[in-house]
Amino acid sequence: MDPLKQLEQKREQSEFPGGKDRLANQHKAGKLSARERIQLFFDPDTFQEVDRFVEHRCANFGMEKNKPLGDGVITGYGKVDGRLVYVYSQDFTVFGGSLSSAHAAKICKIMDLAVKNGAPIVGLNDSGGARIQEGVEALGGYAEIFWRNVQASGVVPQISAIMGPCAGGAVYSPAITDFICMVESTSFMFVTGPDVIKTVTHEEVTKEVLGGSHTHGEISGVSHFIATNEKEALFKIRSLLSYLPSNNREKPPALIAEKKEKNSEEILKIIPDSPQSPYDVKNVINEIIDDGSFFEVHENFAQNIVVGFARIKGEAVGIVANQPMVLAGCLNISASKKGARFVRFCDAFNIPLLTLVDVPGFLPGVDQEHGGIISQGAKLLYAFAEATVPKITLILRKAYGGAYDVMASKHIRADFNFALPQAEIAVMGAEGAINILYRDRLAKNPKEAKTLVDEYRETFANPYQAASVGFVDEVIEAKDCRSKIASALEATRNKREVRPQRKHGNMPL
Ligand code: HXC
Repeated sequence: MDPLKQLEQKREQSEFPGGKDRLANQHKAGKLSARERIQLFFDPDTFQEVDRFVEHRCANFGMEKNKPLGDGVITGYGKVDGRLVYVYSQDFTVFGGSLSSAHAAKICKIMDLAVKNGAPIVGLNDSGGARIQEGVEALGGYAEIFWRNVQASGVVPQISAIMGPCAGGAVYSPAITDFICMVESTSFMFVTGPDVIKTVTHEEVTKEVLGGSHTHGEISGVSHFIATNEKEALFKIRSLLSYLPSNNREKPPALIAEKKEKNSEEILKIIPDSPQSPYDVKNVINEIIDDGSFFEVHENFAQNIVVGFARIKGEAVGIVANQPMVLAGCLNISASKKGARFVRFCDAFNIPLLTLVDVPGFLPGVDQEHGGIISQGAKLLYAFAEATVPKITLILRKAYGGAYDVMASKHIRADFNFALPQAEIAVMGAEGAINILYRDRLAKNPKEAKTLVDEYRETFANPYQAASVGFVDEVIEAKDCRSKIASALEATRNKREVRPQRKHGNMPL
């Protein structure tokens, strides 16, 4: 056969190797094909495919008679906003996107290239897990990917989109990556699916309840983003990449700062006078950052802490903020895990941290203690203490107890600590404190409570004790928050902090 014709024929065969019927089923299920996803994800005409003609080598169960080109995964690289990104996109129309040793080798090749060339890896996952017909060779293939996920962690950003029913190994690799984005109604993640659960434990559960986007975006916290459809998921990942450096040796890309400067006076109106009244800290964030630049992570999980990327005068920052609207902004197990993972990501990828503090303490309760708040809560403390990127902290209102220490206090090496004049920095709130200090006195004369609360407030419910010993660098006005934080970011841009040599720390996992 004419060599060019042969090439053309092979290209055609590899375009939709699962066949038209399966492709139609994929569309009927509200899903795009592996190729369509890639086309939507990259800048137009930038995708370059590799390993298009790879075939599996399995000869069990009649598999030798069915060798679709590409073996169920498209791999390659392209540009996102002009920047290099490596990708793999699993094709559910070929053996349910299941992973053979050849399929795994394609993913591994692309991961190795990404790490060598310092570019992010994005995985578009749509897979039933290890290919059953291949036995241990498929399991070995997964382990090779897991190993590479771990080696790449903290070196290049790794992002996973879940775009179908993903089971077994198809969820463990995403679990090691930095961010997971799921799609409402069409994507699922579970280690073992509903059928296996029914057989083993006799529990009946739907795919949605077991591992749908809301389960993982709101309850388990496995997923960082929920998109309403696949297109939105792919665009979310493009936006996410715009805040991230390509690798751990680069700084995040900066945008040109807006010429028109704004002040942050509105913060004064957002934070209520009463320390007990709730408010939405996202409104405070929006006053400080460049307009419209907040990109929230884990929006629906552990909402008592808010984390996300933003820009201040064009420069990317990672924001961690207590949310007084939910659980009064207390830290609990989920919030600590959410915050810690975000802080560690920012630290690994040179993204400065801005911490906004309004926290009454750790959430009291039997559930929390039995769930291990002691070691789980220590995760956030460990993460902030370990981070060497620029750390800027602003105390908006309450900073009580251990949570004061945890939330990027001066003591765990924040670089600049600011407080608003109404900030209250104390071991605990006034009411709780006087009940402990004056229990007997108040039992005899409860009317004294107001005087004692006022006295306590006078002493501790302000930022000046902390400022007098240098734990707060400056007490600032609401209108100056944005400019002071921007200056602090500029003053720490070339920060270098060397820590003692060790193999690695042993954070409380
Ligand atoms: C081979 C597979 C497959 C697999 C699906 N298929 N999973 N083929 N190996 N792991 C095939 C099906 O036979 C079917 O082929 C086609 O893909 C579509 O699958 P359906 O079941 O028809 O689709 P759907 O009803 O949407 O269900 C999708 C699914 C289900 C939920 C993913 O297929 C499923 O439960 N698969 C097994 C999942 C699983 O237990 N994997 C774990 C493997 S162990 P035809 O020819 O009929 O179209 C593992 C361990 C790794 O991964 C290590 C972990 C640490």
